[in-house]
Amino acid sequence: MAESIFITGASSGIGRAVAFEMAKRGYSLALTGRRMDELKQIRDEINEKHSPPAVAVRTLDVTHYHEVPAAIREMAGELGGIDIVYANAGIALGERVGKDEFEKARETIEINLIGAIATMDAAAAYFLKKGKGHIVGVSSVAAFRGMPRSSAYSASKAGLAIYMEAMRAELYSKNIDITVLYPGYIDTPLNNKLPNRPFLISVEKGAEIIARLIEKKVKSSTVPVYPWNLVGRLLKVLPTGVISKM
Ligand SMILES: NC(=O)c1ccc[n+]([C@@H]2O[C@H](COP(=O)([O-])OP(=O)(O)OC[C@H]3O[C@@H](n4cnc5c(N)ncnc54)[C@H](OP(=O)(O)O)[C@@H]3O)[C@@H](O)[C@H]2O)c1
Repeated sequence: MAESIFITGASSGIGRAVAFEMAKRGYSLALTGRRMDELKQIRDEINEKHSPPAVAVRTLDVTHYHEVPAAIREMAGELGGIDIVYANAGIALGERVGKDEFEKARETIEINLIGAIATMDAAAAYFLKKGKGHIVGVSSVAAFRGMPRSSAYSASKAGLAIYMEAMRAELYSKNIDITVLYPGYIDTPLNNKLPNRPFLISVEKGAEIIARLIEKKVKSSTVPVYPWNLVGRLLKVLPTGVISKM
């Protein structure tokens, strides 16, 4: 039977592009997000273009934490099992500190960190029962260094990466692969209003790289690998005065 991937935040940007890329590679798809109309349109386009074995769609808000395990179970039932869970749903609101923007910070942590943990915890439970699986989480190069006007975003992505590191140790020898991705700038609605997007790549290119990294089951990687593997290291040591101007 074909391998299958469950994706959160499949209605736009990277999640949508990864759905198309994995369909092209012959995977069955379980696509989730809050916007059902978008998901149905994506399903129809994918079926027309790539005819993958199966495409299932379902609304899922990852902050409705207790609905996540049922979503994985139900879609696994529909597809005859799930092999990869791709925790991708996320937002970037450009929150500032001390400017009455706490609500943006709270929402960012609830979706990007707690929503992702809810997804990965449910995935781990499902895969432990199944005896194998692969969990992929989307962090960011913003996890390497706390960035101005992205304080909660940076914290959410650093928290996600550390959670996954702990999960890898805890699930060691349980036949569950863990992949942490650190994308740089990929052209999506999340960032297309930003004035500067260094080393920007198209979302199709990003999805192709991500699919390759998933299939190789890498433990962690920047996306694209170069130059962000080097820039990421540099970000960690740049003086705060330089970071403050970014
Ligand atoms: N683009 C980049 O350069 C970049 C760089 C580093 C990391 N990332 C990360 O990559 C992931 C995807 O981002 P993107 O660039 O593709 O952004 P995007 O185009 O804005 O897509 C975000 C996706 O997340 C979903 N989402 C948001 N809140 C949700 C919620 N509460 N429950 C379920 N789904 C939710 C959205 O779907 P609905 O609105 O339909 O729910 C949408 O499908 C994010 O985690 C982001 O932080 C992106």
